[in-house]
Amino acid sequence: MDVYILTLFPGMFPPVVNASIIKRAQEQDLVRIRTVDLRDFARGAHKTVDDYPYGGGPGMVLKPEPVFEAVDWVRQDLGRNPFVALLTPQGQSFNADLAKELAEKADLVLIAGHYEGFDERIRCLAHMEVSIGDYVLTGGELAAMVVLDASIRFVPGVLGDKDSALQDSFSDGLLEGPQYTRPAEYRGLKVPEILLTGRHEDISRWRRKEAIRRTLKRRPELLETACLTFEDRCLLEQVINEEKANEARGDNCGHYQTN
Ligand code: ADE
Repeated sequence: MDVYILTLFPGMFPPVVNASIIKRAQEQDLVRIRTVDLRDFARGAHKTVDDYPYGGGPGMVLKPEPVFEAVDWVRQDLGRNPFVALLTPQGQSFNADLAKELAEKADLVLIAGHYEGFDERIRCLAHMEVSIGDYVLTGGELAAMVVLDASIRFVPGVLGDKDSALQDSFSDGLLEGPQYTRPAEYRGLKVPEILLTGRHEDISRWRRKEAIRRTLKRRPELLETACLTFEDRCLLEQVINEEKANEARGDNCGHYQTN
């Protein structure tokens, strides 16, 4: 997968793309990431990338020329037409399905705007507009990093364990259940017995049930669209009954108290 990030702040990216899983993915040549400085495509002695809005108003607007010409350059560099996504709070909400969809693109261009806004004609370049949430960031760079990170995890071979992206929260429409590692007991907090038994089938069922419980408690609306098997529905029923009983007992799984 080839990813090009068009930005006025290429210096923001190295700490993120040269660390951890994204770094390894590049070393394994599973992804190639390039930042493209929009200022390199600006014109004039001052390399101006923004200008006052037509019709007046506050703030500056990103000019169309540097962005169009940067996308032209990427097309030439690749010799193909890449898929272009524009980061904007007005875009389609980013989620795991969209991350999977973007991970399937052979070539991806992420346009990170900055300044108060960008010239409307820049939207014509994009196949898709993406928002990472209902808030406004100072620029699209952080949004591009989020989209890049979440999407790369779905590129085959990027995660060590080939199944682990599929076990994540949201990948099957449910939140991931609790996970534990050693020690089996810490400050009186115990790992659930079942996980210590080595009974793999029971452990799988317990994990599924706890994923359902967590989803029910934290994001119940996800259960309406999740793919639930007949067995999942039985587990859900059990969880609902257990939670009702817990509530009746006033057992709300208190927080660990530090001294
Ligand atoms: N640029 C500024 N805010 C953004 C957001 N919430 N999502 C995507 N791009 C943005």
